[in-house]
Amino acid sequence: MVHKIALFNHKGGVSKTTTTFNLGWMLASKGKRVILVDTDPQCNLTGIALKEETEDDEARIENIYNTHSNIKTGLAPAFESQPRAIEAVDCIPIQGQEGLFVLPGHVGFAEYEVTLGIAQELSGSIQTLKNLPGAISDLLEKTANKFNADYILIDMSPSLGAINQNLLMTSDFFLVPTTADFFSVMAIDSLSRILSKWCSWARMASANPILKEAAYPFPEFTLKFLGTIVQNYRIIRGKETAAFQTWIEKIENTVTYKLLPVLEQNNLLLPKQVYTEQGMNGSCTLTKISNFNSLIALSQQHSTPVYALITEHLGQTGIVRENNQRKQEEFKTTFSELAGKIIALSSSYAISA
Ligand SMILES: Nc1ncnc2c1ncn2[C@@H]1O[C@H](COP(=O)(O)OP(=O)(O)O)[C@@H](O)[C@H]1O
Ligand SMILES: [Mg+2]
Repeated sequence: MVHKIALFNHKGGVSKTTTTFNLGWMLASKGKRVILVDTDPQCNLTGIALKEETEDDEARIENIYNTHSNIKTGLAPAFESQPRAIEAVDCIPIQGQEGLFVLPGHVGFAEYEVTLGIAQELSGSIQTLKNLPGAISDLLEKTANKFNADYILIDMSPSLGAINQNLLMTSDFFLVPTTADFFSVMAIDSLSRILSKWCSWARMASANPILKEAAYPFPEFTLKFLGTIVQNYRIIRGKETAAFQTWIEKIENTVTYKLLPVLEQNNLLLPKQVYTEQGMNGSCTLTKISNFNSLIALSQQHSTPVYALITEHLGQTGIVRENNQRKQEEFKTTFSELAGKIIALSSSYAISA
């Protein structure tokens, strides 16, 4: 059975896309079959995951839109009332890592937002819209079956729109990437407020007989929280600020006092001991990731995670290379442990459920 994991934070720039790529690759290197799903119309994940075929980035992405099936063409049968059923997307294998695939994004995916929003508000009372709330979940399930996937990682756009509401509420698990700064504290606060609303909707939708009997049935609502990831890379006025520790504490406090109570009320938490067995603290921090510095640019350039860049990619010599290789080892350990926790948390729930 596939585990669908959403990486969600409606704030941009908190490393959702970067974490999806680095974590997905690590899960695949541990023998899991993983599909990375790009649901952000900006398609950053698609751009990072697929190696350059041309020098021109725009032409490259345009080429992917036109030649490959993607999130939008996959959903078109439901959203554009085409006389054919939704079929699995032909995901693209990511070069350099066996068992890792990308389901490409599309700039036009955002065009479905309004229709989905109406369908979700009306929750089945209009016959022609009843197939939409379950369509994304149907597409992902079919695609997971075709690729025999163990994990689907969903890279989401920074928004609180209908598509994200649907993606999150139909996932099995979610994790919240954050950066150690003021804006992330604010984002967690507003996330806490929106989640209750979304959960009420999801409970109603999954119990709605019309949505259950639709061509693409709305799934059971079983979402569980895996934890937060705090990244420590904001550069403020050209310098890393020494105040990071304070912001990390503020993030953890906001999670503990604002987010976790909402998760608890809505039954989104795993049993407490499942988190403690993974060495997680009371604010459910999965890991803290420091600044990748120059490795991030090389990672994007070579479509390879920061920890998997080879000497040839680094293209450096002497002490600079040695320092980077030492950092790579640290990041490898961080992502390996993170992937280990994700596997343990998601499988513990599957067994107890
Ligand atoms: N740990 C990190 N260290 C340094 N830069 C990072 C780190 N994580 C992400 N970035 C950079 O920060 C920017 C935002 O990251 P991204 O993954 O695109 O965030 P999101 O998907 O949440 O908008 C990107 O330019 C990315 O390369
Ligand atoms: Mg992104």
